[in-house]
Amino acid sequence: MDEKLITVTAPLLPDLEEFNMMLKEIWCSKWVTNNGSFHKQLEKELAEYLKVPYVSLFTNGTLPLLTALQALRVTGEVITTPYSFVATTHSIWWNGCKPVFVDIDPATGNIDPDAIEAAITNKTTAIMPVHVYGNPCDVKRIKEIADRYGLKVIYDAAHAFGVEVNGESVLNAGDMSTLSFHATKVYNTLEGGAMVMHDAETKKRIDYLKNFGFAGETSVVAPGINSKVDEVRAAYGILNLRQVDAAIEARHQVAIKYREALRPVEGITFMDDMPGVKHNYSYFPIFVDAEKYGMTRDELYEKMRSHNVLGRRYFYPLISTFSTYRGLPSAAQENLPNANKMADSVICLPMHHELSEPNINKVLSLIMK
Ligand SMILES: Cc1ncc(COP(=O)(O)O)c(C=O)c1O
Repeated sequence: MDEKLITVTAPLLPDLEEFNMMLKEIWCSKWVTNNGSFHKQLEKELAEYLKVPYVSLFTNGTLPLLTALQALRVTGEVITTPYSFVATTHSIWWNGCKPVFVDIDPATGNIDPDAIEAAITNKTTAIMPVHVYGNPCDVKRIKEIADRYGLKVIYDAAHAFGVEVNGESVLNAGDMSTLSFHATKVYNTLEGGAMVMHDAETKKRIDYLKNFGFAGETSVVAPGINSKVDEVRAAYGILNLRQVDAAIEARHQVAIKYREALRPVEGITFMDDMPGVKHNYSYFPIFVDAEKYGMTRDELYEKMRSHNVLGRRYFYPLISTFSTYRGLPSAAQENLPNANKMADSVICLPMHHELSEPNINKVLSLIMK
């Protein structure tokens, strides 16, 4: 990789010697996958770290979304946000359901509860919100709406690793929450993911579903899929869990520096910490008001690129504009004014645990002109 390239993120990597020692254990045991001892250990340690009752590991953050919809037997229409990564909507589509897009709250980027209520029809069976950038959704209002209309709630919590509201994990909201442990995330297992659930019975069912539906050597109880995590990635995950707090704190320090420098810049806005929330600083989105700033979002994005600073326009284009979805009535631009505005103005700045002071200053100097 080009030494001078400043990337939007960098993977949190375990110490290679410690990893090697764990690899030796795997080699000796010859138990390399199918619920091995590191797999069991990581599920237990993650549940403790995340303050949730049960965790089931998955091979990425997309399969738990697909599996959650299967497990809850969701059919018909699912209300969701267009301001996310495509996997959110794809999981609804792959389950043969119809995604119904509703607008977002511009303060957080998350689905707007009022818009959810307005979109409910007699075909609606579930809501799939996303805690975008790790900002917690209004889980209380969403629960009230879901309870009133008898809807399931599956949170795509891919960005919300370790996020808490008033000391409680945001992953405990809804029927189930899903996480991504992709290399670009705050906590990663190279590729990986997980589902969080409330009770042992559901965990057992999900564990069957991610193992082809096997409930025993000769018994298949459901049309399952393969999303089993191997021992190598489980070991990597155990080591990364030990250093994730330090990585989040390093990201926090980057956010403090960005905010301090960018607050006075006319035409650039960003999100501050929310009261009572323990954030994970997974992303640092800025929003460009072209008129006030004197340059469009794309001009600034290209200027950064030309200086080897690789911001990313998460989440542009909106999912609702992709060819599979743009014909849906709910994908109409008039239905999604806040989401369109955010998608057209956002740049996520480089944000990771080892972003150096000179690199932070280089990013800032490009934005401050
Ligand atoms: C909001 C969101 N949902 C789902 C996913 C899918 O996760 P994965 O890439 O681990 O399959 C991602 C990230 O990649 C994401 O950002």
